[in-house]
Formats: sequence, structure tokens, C-alpha cells
Amino acid sequence: MEYTQRNPVPLPASGASGEVASTVKTIFDWRYALEEQQLLSLYEKGKRLNWNATELAWSTDVDVERMAREARVDQVFNDFMKAPKRLGIEEAVQLRVHQNANLLSQFLHGEQGALIATAKIVQTVPWEEAKFYAASQVMDEARHVEVYHRYLTEKLALSYPVNPSLQTLLDEIIRDSRWDITYLGMQILVEGLALAAFGMLKLTMGGEPLIQDITTRIMADESRHVAFGVLSLKKAYAQEMSAQELKDREDFIMEATQLLQERLTQGMVIDRLGWPRDPWVQWLDESPFNRAMRQMMFSKIVPNLKRLGLLTPRVRAHFERLNLIRFEHEKDSVEEPEVQPPQELIQMLVEYLARVEQEQKQAKGQA
Ligand SMILES: [Fe+2]
Ligand SMILES: [Fe+2]
Repeated sequence: MEYTQRNPVPLPASGASGEVASTVKTIFDWRYALEEQQLLSLYEKGKRLNWNATELAWSTDVDVERMAREARVDQVFNDFMKAPKRLGIEEAVQLRVHQNANLLSQFLHGEQGALIATAKIVQTVPWEEAKFYAASQVMDEARHVEVYHRYLTEKLALSYPVNPSLQTLLDEIIRDSRWDITYLGMQILVEGLALAAFGMLKLTMGGEPLIQDITTRIMADESRHVAFGVLSLKKAYAQEMSAQELKDREDFIMEATQLLQERLTQGMVIDRLGWPRDPWVQWLDESPFNRAMRQMMFSKIVPNLKRLGLLTPRVRAHFERLNLIRFEHEKDSVEEPEVQPPQELIQMLVEYLARVEQEQKQAKGQA
């Protein structure tokens, strides 16, 4: 494995390495009962579907600037997304290129979090078959870190440090001594959000075959990871929880969703472009289109929490406030492991594409 880092990943304010102190109970399972067939078949699937990142078509020419120019991103930002000031084509291309690099960079950092969290799950989960599966996931996550790092440093040569909200959430997931919280945070929330985001990336980067291939492969792995989380937690939560234990889980879900929403804000992009924060950050975070896109990221998380019995009145009220409760009727990861973009999102994109096509026809007619 060898590649050129044309532009190393920038460091966060906290420095080159991060330390999280945590005390966990490491559990040996001397029974080796291996009785959870669903977990074991997931493990078999994980082994069978391993792939090697070095075999991807790394020689592909990736030119995000050209793609953005050809897609007329200035029209997208100005007309469809109602930018607060009209952007010229060059400014619009830069914004798209940086947004793309930021999104992929946060995938990279999230993948490192997943690598560390699953290594911790190997130690802390009480059943041998779950340890087996978690071990296969550790390998998957190392490969995901490798792929995104290579794509960002070799192909894009533009990347971002970890978003502070994502860093806080990852630290909390790793620090917590309760094994189910590691699962809940990583497998259900962070990976659930990533699955929806990957689906979105596939739709928006249709013209780039390398990232399409990477995303398809990673999504197949991630859908197993989320299913692993749902299966294991279902077993854990089948036992009666005390009122206090349940309240702790609810608090965690509410705090983590808040941090995940913040992780999707794009202040770092605007700062890096040197544009005034006002009005650009507000537009990126709060315009109806962007807000709807951000909500879409929760389309897999909400039904999975419902399956786990964690859509309690408190959590439900929280999601109602965030306007996310409508996703409770989407399919969860057991019913549908492969993620489909929600109907609502497809509708938005179809409308958008029809509009672009119409505008292009008009422009041709005028020419
Ligand atoms: Fe991953
Ligand atoms: Fe994963």
C-alpha cells in the first residue's frame, strides 16, 4: 500500500493526537455458545465480502472543479438554493469543491472513530459471536480509513480537520464505560447518519466513477455494521432496564443527535474560503433546502431507534422538536439493510433536475 499524499490532512485545534481516558470492563466469554445465528451469518457475510482497497481504479482522473463547472453549480446555488448573494461561476465552483472535501473529510474522521469504537466493542461485548463480528468490522473500518485518506490526499489534495462537534461525540462514545452506549453512539447514530450521507453523495457525485465505486463498497459494509448494532442492542435491551438506565440512554440519544446536527454545519468551509460568516453560514445551515437535506440524514436513525424500543415519549418529543419524527415509518436496518434515499429526497432532486433541464433548454433557445 503506497500512495502520494499531495496535501496532508490539516490538524484540529487540539493537536496531532487525541487522548481519551476510559475505564471499561473487558469480558471473556468462556461459554463460546455461538447460538446467535443472525450474528454468525453476518460474520460469515463480513468475511466473504472483504475487499482490498488497493484494487480500486486509483488511476481514475478526478476533477471535481470541472464536474462542478459542467453541472452549473452557480445556477444550483443562486436559483435553486437561493444564495443570499449571487455567486459567480468560479466562486460557486470553489464552494462546491470545499463542501465536497469537507464532507469526505468528516467521513474519514468518523471512520477512524468507528475503527477505535469497534476495537473497544471486541473487548466489552459479552457474547463471543458478537466479538467475532466486531473483529471483522475492525478490519472493515481500517479499510474505510485507508480509502478516504487516499482519496482525499491523493485525488483531491484538499481536506479538512475533524469537525469539533464530531470530535466531541467520538470522544464521548469512546469514553463511556457502558458497552451498549458505544454501540448506540457508533453503530446506530454515527453510522446511521453516514449511511444516509453516503446515499446523498452517490446522487450528487454521479459523474465520478471512483467515488461511486468507493461509496457503493463502503455502503455495503456499513449496512452490515448498522444491522450488527440493531441485532446486538435488541438482545441487550430485551432485558428490563431500570427507569434510571432508560433515562441515561434517552439523554445520550438526545445529546448525540444535537451534536450530529451540529456536525453537519459548514462554518469551517466558509471560514476557509475567507467569506464573511454572515450571511453565508446562516444560509448554509438554515435555508429550507439545506435544512431539509440535513433532516434527511436522520432517515435511518429514527426507524432503528424505534425498533430498539428507544423511541420513548421523551425521545419522541425531542425528534418532534427537530422535525425528524416523520422518518419513524421508514424501513429500519433489519427490514432493509441496504439504504434507499427517502422518497422525499428523491422528489426534491427530481424537481431540481427538471428545473435545471428547463433552464438549459431556455438558455439554448436564447443562444
Ligand atoms: Fe466504516
Ligand atoms: Fe462502519
